[in-house]
Amino acid sequence: MNHIILQRREPAPPDPALRAFAADVQAGLSAARKSLPAKYFYDRRGSELFEQICMLPEYYPTRTEIGLLRRHGREMAGLIGPEAEIVEFGAGALVKIRLLLDALDRPRGFLPIDISGAHLSDAAAALMRDHPGLRVRVMAGDFTAPDLVLPARLPGSRGRAGFFPGSTIGNFTPEEALGFLRSAARMLGEGNTGNGGLLIGVDLVKEPGLLHAAYNDAAGVTAAFNLNLLRRINRELGGDFVLERFAHYAFYQPQRRRIEMHLVSLAAQSVRIGGRRYDFAAGESIHTENSYKYTLGGFHRLAEQAGFRPAAVWTDPDDLFSLHWLALD
Ligand code: AVJ
Repeated sequence: MNHIILQRREPAPPDPALRAFAADVQAGLSAARKSLPAKYFYDRRGSELFEQICMLPEYYPTRTEIGLLRRHGREMAGLIGPEAEIVEFGAGALVKIRLLLDALDRPRGFLPIDISGAHLSDAAAALMRDHPGLRVRVMAGDFTAPDLVLPARLPGSRGRAGFFPGSTIGNFTPEEALGFLRSAARMLGEGNTGNGGLLIGVDLVKEPGLLHAAYNDAAGVTAAFNLNLLRRINRELGGDFVLERFAHYAFYQPQRRRIEMHLVSLAAQSVRIGGRRYDFAAGESIHTENSYKYTLGGFHRLAEQAGFRPAAVWTDPDDLFSLHWLALD
């Protein structure tokens, strides 16, 4: 007698991005120490919450970096050179690229890459209205993907420079950061005849109290940003997280020079996501983000290991934040 064994299977989500999200969530929540990748914070609501974070009095990185771009944009533009194509990694609201484009000598192309495609398209459309001569090519995707291939450099452009502001590199472990910088050096160097390089924003090691406040704002926006990840899992993957049963927890870990963000389970509980059950002990946490801080020397060594030549650095008078020009010549 033949038996047909019917296995109960969850329907596979059709969209590859959604499938990757589901697989990452399943792996992260099945581990002994639960974690979720920080790149999934940025759905539409998460991107909006992040923009609110950037305006908080406690969150110094955004306004400090914007100040550096305003004050030293001409010097940066001089190092990038004329008629360049700019590749932005993890482009969001495109506020900072506007400052750079205004300083640059006849920029020819802009190639933003961002995981939050819809958010980026809106912002890119507005940018094209303001810069009619600029060729904008939007790439919706994960710039950390190891198989990322950039389109050939825009015909007629002289050089290709990377732009990676915001200290997004802080989300990577130092090993991952080295891997990213190596692949950025490869991608930006390919077919580059002009002044190739990478303009990158890096948050600096500082007094722990200032770091702590930046990730524990009084208005609770960072907490809402962190918790929104659970809301996204509920909506996109059919989860049943009760947000009130988790608490935002962020602290500075001075030995590792990083902020850690967690979501701490306030009770023993089980959560179901797409047919699977995940158990949480009271006090168990999901590690949702690292935000590494660097010294200038420490970052220069990392950049050199990746094949760049650290050629210029700009910092504010309080040494809160840094922008580096990493040359490829
Ligand atoms: C966008 C990764 C630079 O680490 O400061 C802000 C994200 N997380 N508040 C950071 C974030 C909590 C931000 N980065």
